[in-house]
Amino acid sequence: MNLLEIRNLRSSIRTPDGTASALDGVDLTIKEGESVGLVGESGSGKSVLALSVLGLLPEPGGTIKDGSSIRFRGEELVGAPGKRLRAVRGGGIAMVFQEPMTALNPVLKVGSQIRESLLSHRALSRREARAEAGRLLSEVGIPAPEDALDSYPHQLSGGMRQRAMIAMALAGEPSLLIADEPTTALDVTTQVQVLDLLKDIQERRGMALLLISHDPRVVSRACNRVVVLYAGRVIEVGSMRDVLRDPLHPYSAGLLDSRLSLRRRRRELTPIPGEVPDATRWPPGCRFHPRCPQVMGRCRTEEPPLFQGPNQPQPEEPEAGAMVGRQGREKDRSAEPAPRRTRCWLASDDGPDGEVP
Ligand SMILES: Nc1ncnc2c1ncn2[C@@H]1O[C@H](COP(=O)(O)OP(=O)(O)OP(=O)(O)O)[C@@H](O)[C@H]1O
Ligand code: SF4
Ligand SMILES: [Mg+2]
Repeated sequence: MNLLEIRNLRSSIRTPDGTASALDGVDLTIKEGESVGLVGESGSGKSVLALSVLGLLPEPGGTIKDGSSIRFRGEELVGAPGKRLRAVRGGGIAMVFQEPMTALNPVLKVGSQIRESLLSHRALSRREARAEAGRLLSEVGIPAPEDALDSYPHQLSGGMRQRAMIAMALAGEPSLLIADEPTTALDVTTQVQVLDLLKDIQERRGMALLLISHDPRVVSRACNRVVVLYAGRVIEVGSMRDVLRDPLHPYSAGLLDSRLSLRRRRRELTPIPGEVPDATRWPPGCRFHPRCPQVMGRCRTEEPPLFQGPNQPQPEEPEAGAMVGRQGREKDRSAEPAPRRTRCWLASDDGPDGEVP
């Protein structure tokens, strides 16, 4: 059984300009202990996905539409009572946000915040909770945990605050940690340290990780599989290695070209032209067509389904809604191939042949 199974998730948010269809039929699964990266530019729907899973869409105005399903350990979370969702939050699923100062209470010491989180999720005495809070701070690499317990958030550096946030998220011993842009506010060296910490914790605890970033290189440091989101749709999914080496969708290729290199610390200048369209008015056809360097006539009117890509064992019968993609690519024999799919006509056998891009 998948740990998290999202099917046909459609989430909308009412805005002054109309209803934003922030997620429009998203499927995503995470297995126990798996690390998955969710990437896409600003406005693609990454945070709305995380908030939908946690039952934390803005109110009023945020809605998960009928027909959507989010199952955690087989339990349907869409429409579940608030009490149940609160129990899942922090216990089964925990979240780390981009800016720890928005999640940590500035007037409470770090130790008491972690302790409260521990007491709400685990049967511990106050003394045990303090000891456990110290142990968690040490697990996330804070060098003097006793001092950090007695510090206020503003007394810690940005990197140490983010580590303290991660410690707090671990208090409920979650089986899934969702980290939404957890390193964006940090300098490059600290970013790398925090990403390595997340990977280390994920592996050591056998916990699943959903790491959200606009930068595929960031998630590649900690994740084995990647899901690329564009305009509220999944447009590519595959193993991290396959997508980095050989992105199938022009948008994924563009994201890789416009990346900020973690190692080389400079921006490689081939940005994707334009920006993610307004979620209240998605373009017809392929939603990427107004920006795509390989656009063809049919892209303007017909939206491609998620085609099955290479590095995927070929089923005897194609799945409903999926078509068999490009053939003859080298298969990765070193590991069981992760399912690979992309939403682009170029991935169909008749895509590029019929029309000149
Ligand atoms: N609080 C909100 N109020 C109004 N609209 C919202 C709100 N949150 C999200 N949206 C809408 O949903 C779309 C997706 O937003 P989301 O925050 O999920 O993007 P994102 O991929 O997380 O971007 P970023 O990288 O900037 O965090 C936005 O373009 C916007 O139209
Ligand atoms: S379907 Fe067409 S517009 Fe969309 S990504 Fe593929 S080539 Fe570009
Ligand atoms: Mg976001």
